Amino acid sequence: MSVQRAGMLLFVVVALMTIKTFANAGSKSSVAVKPFGPAGTSQNTDLYTLTNNLGMVVTITNYGATVVSIQVPDKAGKFDDVVLGFASAKEYEDGKAYFGATVGRYGNRIAHGKFTLDGQSYTLPKNDGDNTLHGGLIGFNKRIWTAKEVPSKDGVAVQFSYTSPDGEEGFPGTLTATVLFTLYKDKNELRIDYAASSDKPTVANLTNHSYFNLAGQGHGDILGHTLQLNASKFTPVDSTLIPTGELREVKNTPFDFTHPFAIGERINGADEQLKFGRGYDHNWVLDRQAGETSPSLAAVAYEAKSGRVLEVLTTEPGVQFYSGNFLDGTVHGKARAVYPQRSAFCLETQHFPDSPNHPNFPSTTVVPGKTLHSTTIFRFSVK
Ligand code: GLA
Repeated sequence: MSVQRAGMLLFVVVALMTIKTFANAGSKSSVAVKPFGPAGTSQNTDLYTLTNNLGMVVTITNYGATVVSIQVPDKAGKFDDVVLGFASAKEYEDGKAYFGATVGRYGNRIAHGKFTLDGQSYTLPKNDGDNTLHGGLIGFNKRIWTAKEVPSKDGVAVQFSYTSPDGEEGFPGTLTATVLFTLYKDKNELRIDYAASSDKPTVANLTNHSYFNLAGQGHGDILGHTLQLNASKFTPVDSTLIPTGELREVKNTPFDFTHPFAIGERINGADEQLKFGRGYDHNWVLDRQAGETSPSLAAVAYEAKSGRVLEVLTTEPGVQFYSGNFLDGTVHGKARAVYPQRSAFCLETQHFPDSPNHPNFPSTTVVPGKTLHSTTIFRFSVK
């Protein structure tokens, strides 16, 4: 046996020994865990692989409770990875784009890094010009979460928990967050259940920052994807992407996605809001039926060549549709992919940006004894 072959054999044996697999009795769905490399002060991280009976595979790391890959079939049955990401925790640690991450304590921007709660004012570190973005300098996306596989009657599930100390990144209260990812066993759906509770009044807005390209990650731009958003209003922003407070009708604007439009069709228009966002980077106000508490359809994206469809369902009042405007081709992802501008889009289900400074927006206050809950589902199909 050649030295190379012996080396390869040893590698396979070691890899098999380190992979723990929990198979679901009587079905092909399973969860496996393997090392994902060191991060921070050389702490080790893990990668969980969730597989369902249809062959859909989702990998998630406890570094940032981050979705690393989502493999789903196209209309010919060929599987591709449809989200941007990296191959190791270290690259996520160095990254700035929030690929696939759980974003917190407060998703999106808080103006001037300031808000007032119960008469007390709080100052947060500014990490986006004069504003605080996605939880501050070291948001939940850069923390190592505690992970455990949990039983689920619907499929396979892994729960991630993180306790954010009182005062972390300037926010009051010890906030305990859990994010439960469930891959359904017999349908191509990834469900995310968020919960957060605090020992003092605080604010929270948790979301997932997956970047989708339904043609497969690394396969060109997303300008030809069509998008439909179930929203007749959006929250216009100032030049620093802070909402002005207005809820503006989308009718007769490039923000009207109440019917499917190609993402690229109007993106380079003269509209001032598109200039501020360098494309789409705005919060849409979802049209929800009064009293509806279960996840309802927020968005549908479609890519014609693969035939892949992504539906996003949520209990949240808003969604940030971000067209990947800040991607610039300098970052190298999984499988040697490069990610030029607009090579992916995000649909970040959320409460509205800067809500703590807008009493007319749905409240993001979390009070002791009352746990915040929200659910978002990424549902894949083909047509
Ligand atoms: C959100 C923001 C964008 C950008 C991305 C991450 O979508 O609204 O402006 O910061 O996250 O790059």
